[in-house]
Amino acid sequence: MMFRQRIAGLVQEALPEEAIRHIDIGTIIEIPADPKLGDYAFPAFSLARVLKKAPQRIAQEVADSITPPPWVERMEVVGGYLNFFIEKSFMVREVLQRIQDEGEAYGSSQTGQGRTVVIDFSSPNIAKPVAVGLIRTTVLGHSLYRIFAHQGYHVERVNHLGDWGTQCGKWIVAYELWGDEERLKADPIKELFQLYVRFHQEAETQPELDDRAREAFRRLEQGDPELLALWRRFRELSIKEFERVYARLGIEFDSYAGEAFYEDKMPRVLEILTEKGLLKDSEGAAIVELEDLPPCLIKKSDGSTLYATRDLAAALYRWEHYRPSLVLYVVGAPQQLHFKQVFAVLRLMGMDWVDRYEHIAFGTIRLGDEAMSTRRGNVVFLEDLLDEATGRARAIIDERNPGLADKDEVAEMVGIGAVLFYFLMFNRMKDISFDWAAALNYEGDSGPYVQYTYARAGSVLRRADAEVLPVAELNTGALTEPEELALVKELARFGSVVASAEAGREPSAIARYLLELCRVFNGFYHAHRIVGSDVMAERLALLDATRTVIRNGLYLLGIRAPEEM
Ligand code: ARG
Repeated sequence: MMFRQRIAGLVQEALPEEAIRHIDIGTIIEIPADPKLGDYAFPAFSLARVLKKAPQRIAQEVADSITPPPWVERMEVVGGYLNFFIEKSFMVREVLQRIQDEGEAYGSSQTGQGRTVVIDFSSPNIAKPVAVGLIRTTVLGHSLYRIFAHQGYHVERVNHLGDWGTQCGKWIVAYELWGDEERLKADPIKELFQLYVRFHQEAETQPELDDRAREAFRRLEQGDPELLALWRRFRELSIKEFERVYARLGIEFDSYAGEAFYEDKMPRVLEILTEKGLLKDSEGAAIVELEDLPPCLIKKSDGSTLYATRDLAAALYRWEHYRPSLVLYVVGAPQQLHFKQVFAVLRLMGMDWVDRYEHIAFGTIRLGDEAMSTRRGNVVFLEDLLDEATGRARAIIDERNPGLADKDEVAEMVGIGAVLFYFLMFNRMKDISFDWAAALNYEGDSGPYVQYTYARAGSVLRRADAEVLPVAELNTGALTEPEELALVKELARFGSVVASAEAGREPSAIARYLLELCRVFNGFYHAHRIVGSDVMAERLALLDATRTVIRNGLYLLGIRAPEEM
């Protein structure tokens, strides 16, 4: 147990029953910004109403009934706060010991033990290239996967491919009209993309193309073998393309069960809806009326089903197939209404487990001034963005560290790390606009800054040319400088940061923590000599612990940590 929970335990025991029934003390323990006010603080304000006492009095009474254990140096009541000062050498020893013992598991917990979470992320619409706009769901979902897995959950990564629907009809019509077998063989993705763009251009002046596409999709849904074969081929080519990009990001999926997979599972949804009397006719279309929301369209008047119908079938399937504790849909904010409707329909169907289903929405991204849209054809391919990132990182490395070995490999780590970190460091609901200079700034709030700090700490270890000693062999009481203690406290907090990233479904909490950790580490690094100092062994252990935590944090964001850069 780290100190926060231990302090919560002390406070909890000192409080009357009715107080802890209302408030989870563990969540209100604070770390004062000014260390002069203690290492941890219990704010009594939120208990004033329940206990009908002034906060200051509550804090005093709690203080009076606690017998401080040896690791608490002293306690102090200030205003409505009870401040705790931790015995420093105890704290240093405890934190370093734990990081050494746990290594890559440090910061994790077992809260998810025995529970399954399904994460639906990336989920591109095939028949479109992997546009850069897809990057946010992809990196967010992947990071959430790592966070939940770290917390002991069994995670199923599902790519709910958009491989069904009218767009497949457009694809087929375009191929029939302008497709070329040779070009498709030579460069499938480019050919499929050009067909997509051409269809949308021509449909502007020939609206009958849209009717043809709808008709083609209807035939596909009815199982026309020729169209199915074409569709299957396009689908496979597309998945291959996606997998190449995912591999560069270190991403894998457990399932590619996309929309088409649910084609034969929709009749059951319609049956249940009919049985429960939820299906209403609206000008030939079938809808479900919802309270406070626009009706959910289930079937069009031409008989074809919709995105929402397939999501209903998918929701049922996931419940029955995975028995999940949690299902996360990592999909942009524009689909908020869609998920509200789908969840509301499930609730009407009596599927109470829908409470476990969550839409993890996120804001838009812009690259420079251009909003990204595949439809207009001014698409920026995700892969091009990654290539550009790697190229720019390579140029920086050539300038800063021309003698580096494995320059290409490091450029890939740094360039991609820069992109991932940028897309993960903001709260997910924030609209962001991508900025190369900021993303690659070694001195700013960026992935390369964190990676550079990691590599710099590594170079100190190499320079010292000494083993990092086990904590038991160290004199941890010798680390008394404020910069050292601040760093230890920062390291101690990692587990609660991961827990809050899990709770808020916010990898940005980890990204921001890493920036802070690096800032505190660099404060220590610049203030004190490490190699050749009297406390070299202790400082090297502290530095090594910092490296472990940076590496773990970057891992949870899906970013690699280079040893040199
Ligand atoms: N393919 C969809 C799109 O690009 C996202 C799918 C998200 N997942 C889901 N179960 N609806 O908009």
